[in-house]
Amino acid sequence: MEEKKDFNAGQDEKRDTLTTRQGHPVTDNQNIRTIGNRGPATLENYHFIEKISHFDREEVPERVVHARGTGAFGYFETYGKAGDEPVEKYTRAKVFSGAGKRTPLMVRFSTVAGSKDSPETARDPRGFAVKMYTEDGNWDLVGNNLKIFFIRDAMKFPDMIHAFKADPASNVPNPERMFDFVSRTPEATHMITFLFSPYGIPATYRHMQGSGVNTYKWVNEKGEAVLVKYHWEPKQGIRNLTQEEADSIQAKNVGHATQDLYEAIERGEYPEWELFVQIMEDGYHPELDFDPLDDTKLWPEDQFPWLPVGRMVLDRNPVDFHAEIEQAAFGTGVLVDGMDFSDDKMLQGRTFSYSDTQRYRVGANYLKLPVNAPKVPVRTNQHRGQMDIRDPKESGENPHINYEPSMKGGYQEASLEGRPQHRPTYNASAMTEPIDRPNNYGQAGDTYRSLEDWERDELIKNLSSALAVCDKRIQDAMIEHFTQADEDYGRRVQEGIEIKMKEIEEMKTEDKVPGRETGKTKFGQGS
Ligand code: HEM
Repeated sequence: MEEKKDFNAGQDEKRDTLTTRQGHPVTDNQNIRTIGNRGPATLENYHFIEKISHFDREEVPERVVHARGTGAFGYFETYGKAGDEPVEKYTRAKVFSGAGKRTPLMVRFSTVAGSKDSPETARDPRGFAVKMYTEDGNWDLVGNNLKIFFIRDAMKFPDMIHAFKADPASNVPNPERMFDFVSRTPEATHMITFLFSPYGIPATYRHMQGSGVNTYKWVNEKGEAVLVKYHWEPKQGIRNLTQEEADSIQAKNVGHATQDLYEAIERGEYPEWELFVQIMEDGYHPELDFDPLDDTKLWPEDQFPWLPVGRMVLDRNPVDFHAEIEQAAFGTGVLVDGMDFSDDKMLQGRTFSYSDTQRYRVGANYLKLPVNAPKVPVRTNQHRGQMDIRDPKESGENPHINYEPSMKGGYQEASLEGRPQHRPTYNASAMTEPIDRPNNYGQAGDTYRSLEDWERDELIKNLSSALAVCDKRIQDAMIEHFTQADEDYGRRVQEGIEIKMKEIEEMKTEDKVPGRETGKTKFGQGS
């Protein structure tokens, strides 16, 4: 880019002179132009009108989910291996080859249901979205802290999110809405078990795990594919909050996790995570009692070991939150050569949703913004639209040809050499049907039994408190799901609800409006 001449600096020897967006020096930024110093104002107040109208447009719509978040920049360093095997055995993705190679990246952590400034102490999954600027273009791994999800079919996602958010008529948040939906969604039993355990409120973003949740594929140089799941493990350790701890933090600070991440990086304490993968041959796997593509299930570690593949370090804070974090756009479709989609139905539904919402939320040219643009040359014919910020000097060698194929120049397709395609074959009828092996309760029971005693106590306490305010039909349905997972689990939740309901009954006093009566002083009205 041509260096910008600072004419203002030349005029008054100052490099920090305030200008308008047109580059005009601003000589008065305190007073609007008026007829006499008491007004009225004039319409040709160009500087004021530009300033206020830009302010009126300062916010883009917040994300429909994961609106509250923060992020940082850093790098991924590959080990060049997946466990003891060279990683090339499974994938030709260059981001994983060549031990020690570093790839720049950015990460955005988030909560899910709350809006942009909601408390970061919510009992809610945490988003863990990573964008790697690889030598083959961008790779996004859009995950959560927990390793599984509430539902396994993308069709249900909008209903699920509606149920998790506030009442559409009153805008009052109400846990009954979530349990109403979940009580009719047995596959959510496993995720609810994690969410209401201490894992449901990570202490900070630095101390939480991450997971791709959905199943992807890795493709090697022969075009052979395996199923793959990704997991991030924090080197800082895993820390979670009890409900009481979260409540006491929330009373003083609704942005403690953003503050913690920012301040740690400013101090030079760079958080680090190790990346692991689990690998499975693609297929139906009749020997398993669940469908490997079902995202409500964990892949048992003893059968599908965690293979370390690299590490991530976050060592730079954003300089401008809006430009670098709020406008960041991640998607599950953003894969590089050597990766592919599995048949996981949720993953496929998600893949449409992300770029669709980003075209609306940020705009058609969201990929031109520095945080979203790949760090390799982009040679595309997809141009124009609002805010097309191309530098005309960067047009291709033949700026007349914006189509392909052409005999007159323009961009050419890349060669397939060294990139044999992975070609799964299908032979089945089109249908709208659930999967064969839902097994909604097996792993929920395993997870319940594998929690430590204090974690199980917390789980029962948290579920009982939330369910105590729900309709009896919802309570009964939830107790039935927990009983199916483990009899002890169902029995303890039932007892917990009864105790909690009694406590609520005993505490019931006349409805009181909070606060102390004020207003005895009659300001400006004499005494
Ligand atoms: C954000 C859709 C399931 C993780 C979003 C956004 C949408 C969306 C529309 C907002 C994106 C934006 O405005 O830039 C869906 C749909 C799902 C689904 C339709 C199911 C069919 C999941 C699952 C995970 C997940 C299973 C976890 C693996 C995230 C994360 C973000 C996000 C981390 C925030 C990304 C950021 O920081 O900008 N999702 N989602 N989502 N989703 Fe999902």
